[in-house]
Amino acid sequence: MPATDAQAGALTDEVPADDPLSRFRLDGKVALIAGGGGAIGSAMGAAFAGVGATVVVVDRTPERAAASADRACALGGICKGVVADLTLEDDAERIVAEALDAYGRLDIVVNAVGGGAGKVLYDAEVYPRDAWDWIFELNVRSTLVATQPAVRAMIAGGRGGRVLNISSVRASLGINAGYSAYVAAKGAVSSLTRQWATEWAKHGITVNAIAPTFVDTPQVAMLLDDPNFKTGVVNRIPLRRVGTTDALTGAAIFLCSDAASFITGQILGIDGGLTATQ
Ligand SMILES: NC(=O)c1ccc[n+]([C@@H]2O[C@H](COP(=O)([O-])OP(=O)(O)OC[C@H]3O[C@@H](n4cnc5c(N)ncnc54)[C@H](OP(=O)(O)O)[C@@H]3O)[C@@H](O)[C@H]2O)c1
Repeated sequence: MPATDAQAGALTDEVPADDPLSRFRLDGKVALIAGGGGAIGSAMGAAFAGVGATVVVVDRTPERAAASADRACALGGICKGVVADLTLEDDAERIVAEALDAYGRLDIVVNAVGGGAGKVLYDAEVYPRDAWDWIFELNVRSTLVATQPAVRAMIAGGRGGRVLNISSVRASLGINAGYSAYVAAKGAVSSLTRQWATEWAKHGITVNAIAPTFVDTPQVAMLLDDPNFKTGVVNRIPLRRVGTTDALTGAAIFLCSDAASFITGQILGIDGGLTATQ
């Protein structure tokens, strides 16, 4: 299907003469942050609100959704927290409908539900199916279920849009630590990023992913609390430290902004140079 003028307009590369930096902001955009109650999702919500976005924080824990929405609102943006299980299609449909009812449009979806790797470490030759299925549900199914209705809304809106997935350096690097399901799931997230970018370009929707190395969050605290493990990780990273949630938000804002209009299907490593050494 050929792009309409409105869809093509969503991919304009024009630099506003009066305010060139404005295309790096998200003013007027409505962003849905799936898993926005988590460590990385919460930082994304706050950062997006800080550059003008209206933010809908989605999480399955009401207190976390509310706390992250408050954090984002404190930066001056319009925002709300909603509760949903993003492995359930009905929940995902509902929260997209709620966002459209409240704000009239949807421009961005960030998929920050995921993780779990450190909780299910098994040797590859005996990796249990239930752990495998759980990791895929958490990382791949949640990404699919949240994205489909959001993108249908973007297509119907005719203004293009942005999808930002969170993959991992583990999509491309093995690790000798029982990560079979996680590396496969993040490989799937990276592959879907390229596939969706290809399919949805005709609608003016770009799809990219960030691929962090270890980020200092509760999810990986159990691993990083072990000084030997942390030293091993840090010594492999040229910048000699693990990531922080704030280290991810600049790239996320950029990829979801008008400034990234000609970037799609890309997996951006945010890893202190780790993958550059491989
Ligand atoms: N932290 C790292 O070092 C690191 C590195 C590379 C990539 N990543 C990726 O970054 C993403 C976010 O990681 P994070 O550290 O911010 O994890 P997190 O703190 O656990 O955040 C994920 C949030 O999503 C929620 N959630 C889980 N399943 C859900 C569902 N079905 N419906 C709605 N909400 C759900 C979680 O709630 P519950 O607590 O109830 O599960 C949590 O609030 C993940 O994809 C992870 O793989 C993380």
